[in-house]
Amino acid sequence: MRAVFPGSFDPATQGHLDVARRVAGMFDGVVMCVLTNPKKSGRLPLAERLALLADMTSDLGNVTVDSSAGKLLVDYCRGASIGVIVRGMRTLGDLGDELPMAQMNRHLSGIETLFVPTNPAHAYISSTLIAATAQR
Ligand code: PNS
Repeated sequence: MRAVFPGSFDPATQGHLDVARRVAGMFDGVVMCVLTNPKKSGRLPLAERLALLADMTSDLGNVTVDSSAGKLLVDYCRGASIGVIVRGMRTLGDLGDELPMAQMNRHLSGIETLFVPTNPAHAYISSTLIAATAQR
């Protein structure tokens, strides 16, 4: 079975990479797919997000990168024969956002979401903080 690990990846972080590495062995393939989060304004152009993701995952044989071209996640999954959605879970706050999305995605498509607890060493990392501190 193939899985998608969706996100804004704006930019991708070591926390994302850790989740990708850990789930890579569980599936025939994992697609890290850049999607639009309507709650976020966006920083990096899509091409830069994809290039960084490709570079970070170059040693993970069955992990590929893609973008959804503006589609809903479940529509992307249908088109790409994806059976599972993977999301990293840092905090209880994440669960509040993720649970309704997982329930809606399952309602729309039957596709289940696998929540992967992030490594506590990465719990404080977010794309927002990485982008903010990159100015130094
Ligand atoms: O990295 P993020 O910003 O937490 O990722 C959130 C993302 C992009 C995975 C989520 O916003 C999403 O799935 N957006 C695509 C649009 C979609 O399918 N929305 C329906 C969710 S119920």
